[in-house]
Order: sequence, then C-alpha cells, then structure tokens
Amino acid sequence: MTIQEFFSKYHFSANVDFEALLKTFDRQMDIGLSAEPSPSSLAMLPSYIDTSRKVPPETPIIVLDAGGTNLRVAVVWFDRNGKARIEDFRKYAMPGTQGESLSAEVFFDTFAGFLEPVCQRSEGVGFCFSYPTEIYPDLDGRLIRWSKQVDAPAVVGKRVGSCIAEALEKRTGRRLKLRVLNDTTATLLAGMAAGMSRQYSSYVGFILGTGTNIAYIERNARIAKVPGLNPEGSMIINVESGCFDGYDRSEFDYDVARALRDPDEGIYEKMISGAYIGTTGLMMLRRAAQEGLFSKPCADALLAWKELRTIDFDNFTHNPYIAGPFADLPMTEEDRRTAQALSEPLFIRAAGLTSVNIAQAVIRCGEGHDPLHPVCVTIDGSTYYKTVSAMFKSRVEEGLRTILEPRGIFFDTISVDDAPMVGSAIAGLIA
Ligand code: BGC
Repeated sequence: MTIQEFFSKYHFSANVDFEALLKTFDRQMDIGLSAEPSPSSLAMLPSYIDTSRKVPPETPIIVLDAGGTNLRVAVVWFDRNGKARIEDFRKYAMPGTQGESLSAEVFFDTFAGFLEPVCQRSEGVGFCFSYPTEIYPDLDGRLIRWSKQVDAPAVVGKRVGSCIAEALEKRTGRRLKLRVLNDTTATLLAGMAAGMSRQYSSYVGFILGTGTNIAYIERNARIAKVPGLNPEGSMIINVESGCFDGYDRSEFDYDVARALRDPDEGIYEKMISGAYIGTTGLMMLRRAAQEGLFSKPCADALLAWKELRTIDFDNFTHNPYIAGPFADLPMTEEDRRTAQALSEPLFIRAAGLTSVNIAQAVIRCGEGHDPLHPVCVTIDGSTYYKTVSAMFKSRVEEGLRTILEPRGIFFDTISVDDAPMVGSAIAGLIA
C-alpha cells in the first residue's frame, strides 16, 4: 500500500479547500449570531467589553489566567506609557488537569487559595478563563462545557466569577469582583493596546496552544441574538472556533475522539492544537503499522506505544534523527522516511485549517480594505510559535496571504508578550 492509498483509505487529506471551508465557517458564524436557537457548532459568544473606555494608568488589578495547562496569578498595572508591569507572578498547574476529578467546591476553593495572597492589592480581578463560557453583561461567566480535558464536571453550568468570589470571601472575608473573559478576547485587547500607534481598522485575537480559538470585532447590527444593542456599535465575539464541525474528520481523528471523554466536542481543535496533534500522530502511525507500512520490528514497537507527546512528534517530523522516543525505535532508513512522509501532512493540514480560521475572522470583521489601516491579528500560543514541522508558522502566513490578498484585505500579524494576562488586566480595569 502506498502512503497515498493509505491516506485515502482512512479519509485523510492535507489539502484544505480554503474557499469551501471559508463559506461553511461564515454560514455557521451567521447561524451562531442569529436570534433563533442555534444549531451551529460555533457558539459566537459576546464579550460585553466596552473597548472605547480608557485604561487608567498606575492602577493595580489582579489577574487570574486559567489556560489549558497552567494557572497564572499576578498583579498588573500600566505605567504612564501604557507599558504593562507584572508583579507577584505565580504559576500553578491548572486544577483538574492532574489526573484527579475535582468537585465544584474544591475547584472554586483552589482558585480562591491562589487569589488569597494577592487579594488585598485590588478590588477587581481580570479573569481569563480559556474555556467555552457564556459571558453576561456584568462580566460574570457561565461555563458551557469543559475543553482541554479538564476534569471537574460539576463546574459546568456554574457562574465561575461569582463562585470563586464567594469561595474567597468564605476564606478571607474579602469580596472581589471577577470580570471573566476568554483568552482570545484578552489577546485581542492586548493587541489593541500594543497597536495604538499603527491605526489599525480592526482587531482579531487568535490562540493556538493547548487549544485553539479566535475572537474578532463584529458589528452589533449582525448580533441578532442579543436584543437591545446599539446598532451603530460593535462587540468582541468569542467564536469558540475549536468546536467548528465543518471539516470532515479522518479515521485518525475518530480514533483520537474515541479515546477521549468528549468525543464529539472540539472537533476542529483536535485536528489543530497542541493537546491533540501528538495523539493523532500516534493513531495514524499505529494504523500504518497495522497496514504493513513499516518493517515488522518497527511496527511491533510502535503498536506497543501508549502515548506520543505533541512535542516529540513535532521534533521527530522536523528532524527524524533527533533524540527522543523515535530514536529508541528499531527503525530502518525506509521506516524513518515513511514515518516522516506520514507525519508531515498532519502539520500541513493543521496549518491550512489555522489559516482558514484566522482569515475567516479577518474577512468577517469587514475592515482592512485601506492599506493605511490594516486589520491587526494578535497571535498567542505555544503551538503556533513552537511547532517546527512543515514550516508551520510560515505556512499559516502563506495561507493567510493566499486567502486575503486577492480580496484586497490588508492585515498584520503581531505578538504581544503575556497577551492573555495583559488583556485581562485591561478588561478588569475598564469594566
Ligand atoms: C477553549 C477556548 C479557548 C481556546 C484557546 C479552547 O479549548 O474552548 O475557550 O479560547 O481553547 O485557549
């Protein structure tokens, strides 16, 4: 069996049809914003943050940043030049990711414990909560479902901001006001603050790390599901694009899904993001081993593997002679060549899907037609910046140019240090 035949048999293709996928994305975004109960895979969650307000200088705000792997706490303030100063920084493992299942009570109390040492520094907390969460106009947020395999099922449906505030009050008697926002919203806000001098026409915040997602600025007139918005205004929308279901899964993706506790959630994210690419690679290599694409010793060894971390898979795909788990496999040169030829397309597909995700948000915001005022895309996340295979980052940028240049849309991609923390501080301070 050739590699091409193998891919066809398992319905895998690295060639993403950009235009077809953009259309599906756009349709689902429309449905997600409509007033009808939404059958869309895109939640399209309004952020309720008023971006026209000014950030007060030299005012400390507590920031809580719950990402997919880490939980960061700090106190942030902005100097007179708008530069963010980060103090009292502490990093913990994200509760619920350490193989233990947490009750809601323990989960919220753990967060309260993280806040306790800094709780006298400010009355407000910018709470970056990087999970699908419905935000309310008072900036509290209700967890819709977990992503990234966090194990604390009873937290689903709870208002995370006020629950943590209550837990802290129980511990300390002090009541703080938590303002909840998504990490993509925070990244967009951080880009907005960093890009002031450039006169951008609009902003997008994109994350590709443990998970993936995007936020952009939508015209209120198109947000039919929120009654009473000023039709002249606009709002940051958290797309929750990791849940997009408009791209057909391969058998390898189904293999991954079946091995997880949320097989039908985060379909797009599982093809793209750091939490899953290694596992998808393992599923694919195991299938290839079963199909006889490797020598017997190599196939037997591969079939005994229980896990493959994204970083090891990426390193091997980039450099098939690198130290790591693959170096311990009894691989012939032909095995190595086959493994690499199988693996790289997974990264090529991820890059294509990423380009579509970002480009769609840029197109959707309706701006960027004047070269003086491009759209600013702020990108954050370890998977985006650290993936070395398939010239990942440059491939995503190539996809963006392929899609956006013929449409006459000007854009810029930037990164901001500690974007989720900085953006959460902004949100906390302007609320
Ligand atoms: C979450 C999003 C988040 C993204 C990036 C996804 O798993 O559902 O809310 O923005 O990861 O961290």
